[in-house]
Amino acid sequence: MQPAMLLTHLSLTNFRNFIRLETDLPAGQTLLVGANAQGKTSLLEAIHFLTAGSSPHSPSDRNLINLLALKEQRPFARIVAEISRKDRAHTIEIRLILETIGANGEKRLRKEVLINGIKRRLRDLTGVFNSILFFPQDMLILEGSPGKRRRHLNETISQVDPAYAEALAEYGKVLTQRNALLKQLQERRAERRQLTFWNERLAEQAAILIRSRALGLSELEKLADRIHSELSRGKETLRLKYVPAFHRAAEAGQQFDLPFAGEMDWTTQTHQVLKNKILETFHNTQSEEIARGITLSGPHRDDFYFIMNDMDLRIYGSRGQNRTAMLSLMLAEVEWLHQCAGEWPVLLLDEVLAELDATRREDLLRRIGSVNQTILTAADMDMFNDSFRQRATIWQIRAGTITAFGNRE
Ligand SMILES: Nc1ncnc2c1ncn2[C@@H]1O[C@H](COP(=O)(O)OP(=O)(O)OP(=O)(O)O)[C@@H](O)[C@H]1O
Ligand SMILES: [Mg+2]
Repeated sequence: MQPAMLLTHLSLTNFRNFIRLETDLPAGQTLLVGANAQGKTSLLEAIHFLTAGSSPHSPSDRNLINLLALKEQRPFARIVAEISRKDRAHTIEIRLILETIGANGEKRLRKEVLINGIKRRLRDLTGVFNSILFFPQDMLILEGSPGKRRRHLNETISQVDPAYAEALAEYGKVLTQRNALLKQLQERRAERRQLTFWNERLAEQAAILIRSRALGLSELEKLADRIHSELSRGKETLRLKYVPAFHRAAEAGQQFDLPFAGEMDWTTQTHQVLKNKILETFHNTQSEEIARGITLSGPHRDDFYFIMNDMDLRIYGSRGQNRTAMLSLMLAEVEWLHQCAGEWPVLLLDEVLAELDATRREDLLRRIGSVNQTILTAADMDMFNDSFRQRATIWQIRAGTITAFGNRE
């Protein structure tokens, strides 16, 4: 077997509907079968929580604590995992503790992270346990607002490159400061020349982000195009077209069903060139930014498009095509993480087979055979072919309890 990060043991306490779960996990493919509302999605969410200490699908960490446990004196949830890596084994423990602060009963959630038994910062989790998660609602990454795509891209690149995560945090801080100054300028409570300092700082971080996004998307595009072509038996090509916000205005009005004439290859732009272009945009839009009291362009407004056979999938894609494209992106991320980290990440797929025709389902199941550890969920086994059933470990999940498939208890 190739080097891989493997989740070998998972222990949950008061996480969603799991009051207590203690389980070993095998390598290879595990299929978790269960009726609605039994805990399939929650289990994948708990595993993915180990990757960055957050859940992209929960508005607040508080929602992750079991509702009955919330009634206790000191509510908490805990995830403990044993990870096997090529060099050594690791333990990750994450505790979510709801504390009462002050006399008026106000609550605050405290998150504690322990790596190999030692308390660490949340961001120290980066790279300890890589996983890629696909939930059905992740179709919104393709079909929904640009914010969903940006968030997803940020999470992916951060797993590969901790420096990107730092630039992102710094960009957010500087953006807040610059917006505050623009607001003051709008109200004539500051001087225009004060902007120079913040423009410079924002453009510096923006150039780092734009360059990483351009390079990352181009790597992902190469991998995703190959996978998408395989899953569609050569009928479809997939492109991920990056459109930095400071450049989008120039393209406004262009129809995406037309061939892209004269488009930019952002990967060839150096940091300094990008920075100068951003500063130029700031300069050109200064009056408008002051009038509106906000930063109008920059990585916080970037977007990228899924282009299949020269069509924008958001506008023209069928459900099955869109799902194939999203899965191709996720599988491309798995390969990219493998290339960058030298170990396969764990792949978590929630109800992926729905909406795919029999051929695409078969190709997908064959394809995930190359990932060292995949955990899939489904309400029933109808859509899984015999060859998959023979090689997979199949578990049944009922009310937060896991048993081997076929066992009554
Ligand atoms: N904080 C919580 N405390 C207790 N129960 C919760 C909490 N959050 C969610 N649940 C419940 O946990 C159960 C399992 O939810 P989950 O989404 O994991 O189900 P599922 O098996 O994926 O179902 P489906 O097939 O419908 O997607 C549901 O009944 C849900 O309402
Ligand atoms: Mg579910």
